This record gives sequence, C-alpha cells and structure tokens, in this order.
Amino acid sequence: MLVLGIETSCDETAAAVVRDGRRLLSSVVSSQVELHALYGGVVPELASRQHVEAIVPVLDEALARAGCSLRDIDAVAVTTGPGLAGALLVGANAAKAIAYARDIPLLAVNHLEGHIYAAWLEEGPQPRFPVLCLIVSGGHTDLVLMTGHGRYRRLGETADDAAGEAFDKVARLLGLGFPGGPAIERLAAGAAPSARLPRARLARPYDFSFSGLKTKVLRLVRGEEGPPPAAPELAAAFQEAVVDALVTKAIAAARDHAAREIILVGGVAANGALRAALVERSPVRVRIPLPALCTDNGAMIAACGWWRLRAGERAPLDADVQPGLRIG
Ligand code: KG4
Ligand code: ZN
Repeated sequence: MLVLGIETSCDETAAAVVRDGRRLLSSVVSSQVELHALYGGVVPELASRQHVEAIVPVLDEALARAGCSLRDIDAVAVTTGPGLAGALLVGANAAKAIAYARDIPLLAVNHLEGHIYAAWLEEGPQPRFPVLCLIVSGGHTDLVLMTGHGRYRRLGETADDAAGEAFDKVARLLGLGFPGGPAIERLAAGAAPSARLPRARLARPYDFSFSGLKTKVLRLVRGEEGPPPAAPELAAAFQEAVVDALVTKAIAAARDHAAREIILVGGVAANGALRAALVERSPVRVRIPLPALCTDNGAMIAACGWWRLRAGERAPLDADVQPGLRIG
C-alpha cells in the first residue's frame, strides 16, 4: 500500500510517499524559513500564498523521487489541523482533489499525531505501548500517553509559550535570527551557563510554562539585575532551563504511567542538549527520529494515515480543516 502524505500546516510545504506506514520512498520539504525570517516569525498570509505556489511542484517531486505516479497511490493523507487555517486549506484541497480524481481514500491527520508517527518510520522494531510522547515544536509542547494506535491521553501541555516559541523569542532578545532554536544552540555550544535560571512551578505536575523564563532573560539582557551576562552564557542558561523542565517532566510522566518507551518529536527535538539529556536520564528506551523527520514533513503524515486506513477510517471529501485541533 502506497500512501501519499501532504503537510502544509505552518511554514513547510511537504509531500512524501510511504509504503505500508513504515518504508519511506520519498520525502520532499519546501521550507519558507527564509521568507519568514525577514519578519522574525511566520506571517500567515505569506505562508498560504507560498503553499499555493509550492504545492504542485512539491507533489510532483515527491512522486518522481518515489518512482511512481498518482496512478500508483492507494490513499492520500493530509494534515487538517492544528495549524494556520489558510495554510491547512491548501494541502487539504490538494489532497481532496487527488482523492476525488483517483477515487481513493482520503485520510485526515492530526498534525501532532503525525509528529508521533515519525517514530514508526525508523528501521528496527516498532515502538511498544504504552509510549510516552514529548511533542515539542514552535506551536506545541505536549506530553501525551499513547496506549495504542490512535489512542492518546494528554497528560500535560504548556500554560503559555511553546518550547520552540520560547527559543524563538529569546533568540530575538539576544539579537539572533529566526528560527531561534538552532541559533541559540549554536551560541550556547561550549559556553558555561551564566546562572541557574528559575524553573516554573505549576499546579498540574506535567504542565510547562516558559514565559517567566523569557521575562527573566529579558531583565538580564536589559541589565535590570546587574551587569548583563555574556550572550553565550545566557543562551546556555536558558537552554539548560528549558531542557531540564522538558526532561524532568517527561521522565516523571513515563515513570508514573509505566511507559515502556519515550518518543521525542517536533522541531525542538533537533536540539542536541535535549536529546542527550533525555537519553542520559531516561530509565526506559528513548526514540528520537532523525532531525529531518522531527521537523514538519509529509512522511509522518503518510505514516499516520496508513494506520488510520488500516483501522478503517476515511475522511469525507467535505472534511473541514481544524486550526485549533488538539490531541488526547
Ligand atoms: O516542528 P517544527 O518544525 O514546526 C512547528 O510545527 O512548529 O518546529 C519549529 C520549532 C521552532 O520554534 C524552532 O526554533 C525549533 O523548532 N527548533 C529548535 C531547534 N531546531 C528547531 N529548538 C531548539 N534547538 C534546535 N536545534
Ligand atoms: Zn510540527
């Protein structure tokens, strides 16, 4: 079974062909990062227009690289939420057109579930349930217990900024470019943290909060708490605080729910300090897909769609996009 996966929820136009939910035949991602970097963040209107321009070439390229044509595709899976409404519509309409023209099943995929399914694209044994998933991206910070295919329980989320958003905002405070995560990681490499920054305390044990940390960095940068620390040391302290919060809560949640594995996905999973700390501190197996599968891509959507197809699900051709969709 060949599933075509389409992803346009934010600032990547992506398509991929995956066989039987696990074997990646092609994955093409057209990133808009440079376009949005001019404005210091994603501009929704520009994102939609760029998706319209990129979608057909990206689909053509994904099919060509997989050595097939639309005639060989058995089903089409597309992200229908969460994300930017105008951006989601571009991918959803392309997917509907293909499903209608070819008379093949359409699968509506939750972007966050898609991120988790990147773990099924890795070679070797499949993840074993229950799995604790830490989804960390520019828009989300979720701790989710996955007890089976399509079965999720959200244990925790962020009360304010997402982890990637915090990286992006702090990078801006430090005068670094967008996206901020990689810039902060580079700046912090080899630097000793300037000081221990505060960790948020929340009523719910698995929730996160990063806005206080961001404000603390702002005060330090402005010299409101004495002479400002050097930027690399401050970047290191900020990264250490975010990583510590993510890892501590993920491990506690995994322990408390007897998870057999931890899966780390989303754009922030590309962070080396986070990956290393989680692997070092986790009592159970940690799976982290390759960086190209952690950031937004069509392959994870195709993989998730395949499991949906197997479960007998089909989306109607008039399915709507759901910008505020959640998981669990
Ligand atoms: O999953 P993703 O590609 O797109 C969304 O769905 O948001 O995540 C993008 C986010 C950005 O906020 C970016 O700064 C962050 O992931 N990111 C990183 C790193 N690489 C990307 N954060 C920390 N360290 C990194 N190396
Ligand atoms: Zn994402």
